[in-house]
Amino acid sequence: MELKDLNGDNGEGVDSWKEVTLIYSAALRQIETKVEILNSEFQHVHQYNPIEHIKTRIKTPESIVKKLKRNGYESTIDNMVKYINDIAGIRIICSFTSDIYQIADMIAEQRDIKVIAVKDYITFPKASGYKSYHMIVTVPVYLSDRTVDTTVEIQIRTVAMDFWASLEHKIHYKFEGAAPEHVKNELVECAKLVSDLDARMLSLNDEILAISNKR
Ligand code: GTP
Ligand code: MG
Repeated sequence: MELKDLNGDNGEGVDSWKEVTLIYSAALRQIETKVEILNSEFQHVHQYNPIEHIKTRIKTPESIVKKLKRNGYESTIDNMVKYINDIAGIRIICSFTSDIYQIADMIAEQRDIKVIAVKDYITFPKASGYKSYHMIVTVPVYLSDRTVDTTVEIQIRTVAMDFWASLEHKIHYKFEGAAPEHVKNELVECAKLVSDLDARMLSLNDEILAISNKR
């Protein structure tokens, strides 16, 4: 794939891959900082950090072009800004399932963040067994002469869910989506174990918190 394929002007003044990268990485930095601030405040108020770690990534031009093609769009800057929601992605890994919803709510409540869509694959897991909480949001990026509301995909999941998703992704990639039936079944079984582990760790933590609050 050639970078020149991604040329064009979408009327909002985003007209080159370089500029796109600049804007999306600025948006990611903003969201990352917001989440880090929430984590510190949480530590201050509740004496624990709900977030284990944060990963950010910008989608490669190759996979942007692939996704545009898959959805029947020409490779233009205009189309990628309009139709690809996950050019900028941030993954927030938490300790407990309850942390996920608290973090999601705190993000959604911020005045400059607009929630475009939410997919709760924790309440409604995918057939594969995949669990995670997804939000598509926009955040304003202030440039010298204009403000660009920029789309970011936020994925929030527990350490255990992340462990499962990493392995499933690797398997999916290796078999190009056509993994043997017994492997798929085993993954579904493992997803159940993950849910069970998350639930038990949460109740154990709640029990410990209740004891230390009494002291
Ligand atoms: P994509 O075209 O893959 O971005 O999916 P979508 O537009 O239908 O959105 P969805 O919210 O379903 O998935 C977005 C992202 O979540 C994906 O790019 C993956 O990072 C992750 N994801 C979704 N489903 C699965 C899954 O079954 N396994 C794993 N490992 N990751 C998944
Ligand atoms: Mg994606």
